[in-house]
Amino acid sequence: MKGILFEELLQPWIDRIKDESLREKVIATFQSALDKSGYTKEAQFLKMPFTLLTNCRGITFLEHTLAVTAGAVGLAQAQMAHYKKPPCEIDMDRLIAGGLLHDVGKIVEIEPFKGGYRKSRNGMCMRHPISGVALAYEQGLPPEVLNCIGCHAKEGEGRPQTVETILIHQADYATFDPLVMMEKGSLIS
Ligand SMILES: [Fe+2]
Repeated sequence: MKGILFEELLQPWIDRIKDESLREKVIATFQSALDKSGYTKEAQFLKMPFTLLTNCRGITFLEHTLAVTAGAVGLAQAQMAHYKKPPCEIDMDRLIAGGLLHDVGKIVEIEPFKGGYRKSRNGMCMRHPISGVALAYEQGLPPEVLNCIGCHAKEGEGRPQTVETILIHQADYATFDPLVMMEKGSLIS
C-alpha cells in the first residue's frame, strides 16, 4: 500500500535518529512490511491494535510503538542523568531505531478481517520478533538493531541481549502487563 508517510507517523522519534542511513532503513522496513501485509486501506492500518493477545482498549500499533520508544529512551536518560558513572554505554540511535522497529513484524502478523483483525497466515507461522528480524535484515539494519527486534519478547529470554534490547523489553512490558492484569481483574485501581 502506497501513500502512508512513515516519516510523519513515526515522529518525533524518527527525526531523533542522527544517522541518516539508519533513519532511512527504519522507514524502508516499515514500508516493506506494509507492502507485504494484508492492509489495503490506510484507515485499516492506522487502527490496527497493537496486540491480539489481550483487550487493547483502543491503543493502536502506532501509539504503542511510539510509547515504547519514548519509554525506552526515558529509561536510558534516567540512568544517564542520575548515575555518576553509567555502567555501560547506551547507543541512542540504536535504541530509537530498535524501539521503533521492535514490533514491525506485527504489520504482517495481524491482518484486517471482516471489519476487525485476526492473526495472518504469516503470524501463524512465526511471531513478530521473527518476521520483524527478517524484514529489517532485508533492509540492511545492523545486527544490534536486529537483536532489539528478535530478543525484545519471550524469544529473548535467557538469550544474549544488548542493553538497548533490555530497555525496549522493559518499556514494552510496562505498557502490556497492566492491560493483561486489567483483563484478569488483578490490577488494583
Ligand atoms: Fe511491543
